[in-house]
Amino acid sequence: MKRIAVYPGTFDPVTQGHLDLVERGRKRFDRLVMAILSNEEKQPMFALEERVGFLREATAHWPDVEVATFDGLLVDYARRIGASVILRGLRAVSDFEYELQMAMMNRRLAPEVETVFLMPSEAYSYVSSRLVREVARLGGSLEGLVPANVARALATRRSEGR
Ligand code: PNS
Repeated sequence: MKRIAVYPGTFDPVTQGHLDLVERGRKRFDRLVMAILSNEEKQPMFALEERVGFLREATAHWPDVEVATFDGLLVDYARRIGASVILRGLRAVSDFEYELQMAMMNRRLAPEVETVFLMPSEAYSYVSSRLVREVARLGGSLEGLVPANVARALATRRSEGR
């Protein structure tokens, strides 16, 4: 049986930290599905289609990695695609409480789906989509922290004053 993992998130936008996690995760599963939550309450900076595009480009060289969108409960989506694992990244202790709550709730909803945490390289331990958006908005360099397509899109946004 194929081991399928789902790596869910907002990915607004994808960072090298996310991609570092994919690289680690894909070696441990037969298929890794990056699943972008589509019914965002918080107003994302990038539209769902743009985020899908960034992820597809950034993961195109990994044949075992797919990019998809989902809405509703994550565990329902995981069951639908036959994923037995939810993959999440843990950067620092500050991530832990939120992640623990989600993992426990998801376990209660779907005990057969296990949440697995991986830690990204320490080089990305402070990188978040939120900080990336902020630094980009204020004109700072994001060299090495986001893929090239995201860096270009952020620069365009800034030049348009958005
Ligand atoms: O990148 P994020 O914003 O930390 O990802 C959060 C995400 C998408 C994993 C989480 O909000 C989620 O799974 N939402 C789907 C709705 C759901 O299943 N909620 C109950 C889980 S505790």
